[in-house]
Amino acid sequence: MRMETENREQRRISRRSFLVLTGGIISAISLGSLPNTRFAHASASEFPESECRVRSEADKKFLVAYASKYGSTAGVADVIGKELCSRGAPVDVLLIKNIGDLSSYRGVVVGSAIYKRKWLPEAVDFVKMNREVLRRVPVAYFLVCMTMCEPTEENRRKVLAYLDPLLKEVPQVKPVGIGTFAGALHYRNLSWLEKMLMKFIGAPEGDFRDWNAIRAWANDLQEVHGLANGLRPTIVNV
Ligand SMILES: Cc1cc2nc3c(=O)[nH]c(=O)nc-3n(C[C@H](O)[C@H](O)[C@H](O)COP(=O)(O)O)c2cc1C
Repeated sequence: MRMETENREQRRISRRSFLVLTGGIISAISLGSLPNTRFAHASASEFPESECRVRSEADKKFLVAYASKYGSTAGVADVIGKELCSRGAPVDVLLIKNIGDLSSYRGVVVGSAIYKRKWLPEAVDFVKMNREVLRRVPVAYFLVCMTMCEPTEENRRKVLAYLDPLLKEVPQVKPVGIGTFAGALHYRNLSWLEKMLMKFIGAPEGDFRDWNAIRAWANDLQEVHGLANGLRPTIVNV
């Protein structure tokens, strides 16, 4: 009888320890306090880069610079690049970590996946480090995240706020538009910790990228905001 009570007590303690442990891990990830958390990154082939050359009067190109962990933002950047190119603008689509000198560009689109309510650090650093060049050419930002799987006005406001710290920190770079797109999430790609976190918050699994919305945004960048003309356009909050 005494042994049975002890066993029951032990089981209760180990269940409690498990909950404390998982709770701690989840908070640690969401607060970003596990700097060495290993992410199962996508392979390099999922981060396409391209160069689109068109017969154009312009001697300068456009750049679509992107940061991505698992590749879904790479796909978005690629489609934005193709759309700009199909309208007659020469375009480079490049992973941010492979970008050097910006002087050959007359307009730049910068985008990143969202992790823990932020752009990836390399995207933030890219804007900060190149602020002097970026303030002189038309620039647009975009972000890719799961909140936009439900593209309501409220969610758009919520995700636009993810960029507030950057807009405040680098006020001299004024984007002519900010695209907010749904991304993709495949649990099989994630590390155990990420998977647990995503399941815990009930994040849906699948590819939710809306290619028509992405193309329409890229198209508006040229037609509404004059990105392709290389003019300093009027600031419009898209
Ligand atoms: C650990 C983790 C944290 C995430 N944090 C957010 C978040 O704060 N807000 C959001 O809307 N989506 C979040 N997401 C979803 C990603 O933004 C989405 O899956 C995106 O498409 C990933 O882009 P990538 O494939 O280019 O890396 C998160 C995903 C993971 C795995």
